[in-house]
Amino acid sequence: MEIIVKQTEHELAEVAADAIQDLVERKPDAVLGVATGSSPLPIYRELGARVKAGTMSLARAKAYQLDEYVGLPADHPQGYRNFVEREFVAITDIESRNVHGENGQAQDLIAECARYEQEIVDAGGIDLQILGIGVDGHIAFNEPGTSLGSLTHPAVLTEQTRRDNARFFDGDITQVPTHALTQGVGTILRSRTAVLIATGANKADAVAAMVEGPVTSLCTGSALQLHPNVKILLDEPAASKLKNLDFYREIFDRRPEGTWLGL
Ligand code: F6R
Repeated sequence: MEIIVKQTEHELAEVAADAIQDLVERKPDAVLGVATGSSPLPIYRELGARVKAGTMSLARAKAYQLDEYVGLPADHPQGYRNFVEREFVAITDIESRNVHGENGQAQDLIAECARYEQEIVDAGGIDLQILGIGVDGHIAFNEPGTSLGSLTHPAVLTEQTRRDNARFFDGDITQVPTHALTQGVGTILRSRTAVLIATGANKADAVAAMVEGPVTSLCTGSALQLHPNVKILLDEPAASKLKNLDFYREIFDRRPEGTWLGL
């Protein structure tokens, strides 16, 4: 794991955007994995700014969503497809038809998950997966207890997650769906590169468990310890409970020249 701590969300977004820019310069038709929620928004805005400035393009890139709520009407603004259209597609030059997600309205949810997993495989796999982490340590909607080998599957959301996400539903937990379709932990581990962004003191316990705790399904983010190429982007409050923080800073400062992020 490469732990990168910066002062501001904007600086973290620049690191992630540099990685994505480097990828699409090498591979214009790269496959991105896109998260929703608040954490990745600064990354999408930074990508949007670079596209607008003409310094990068996602015109040939593809993207796959991490997850989608089950049962929301197709035009619900908090449906993750609509979120991705608004917060990512609309502000970059990625083509809407090249952005894919699970269909949370499918009749047969299990078949839909198998179809989606295969679609990612057929696309050549995800080159770079953007992730956030929930306060209970979940990545995507892989709640505590989810198999660390799981592929895309229907999931039940914990009350904690529904409470956290109620802020997107007028603060009303009863409006937050109880189920979602989500890439599994195993799906995420198949990505070639993963970039997780976490900001704020409310993520400090989850970040410490993910980075320094045991690998356990009780904190599915901890499975990223098994990922061969994962960058964890943190602000100071989110990093504040890491025991070895000074050493992670030293690793970053002494990184060999020409390493992937090159920053
Ligand atoms: C979103 C997702 C979730 C969020 C996590 C953190 O697609 O899969 O795992 O990344 O719940 O959410 P925020 O960023 O809103 O704190």
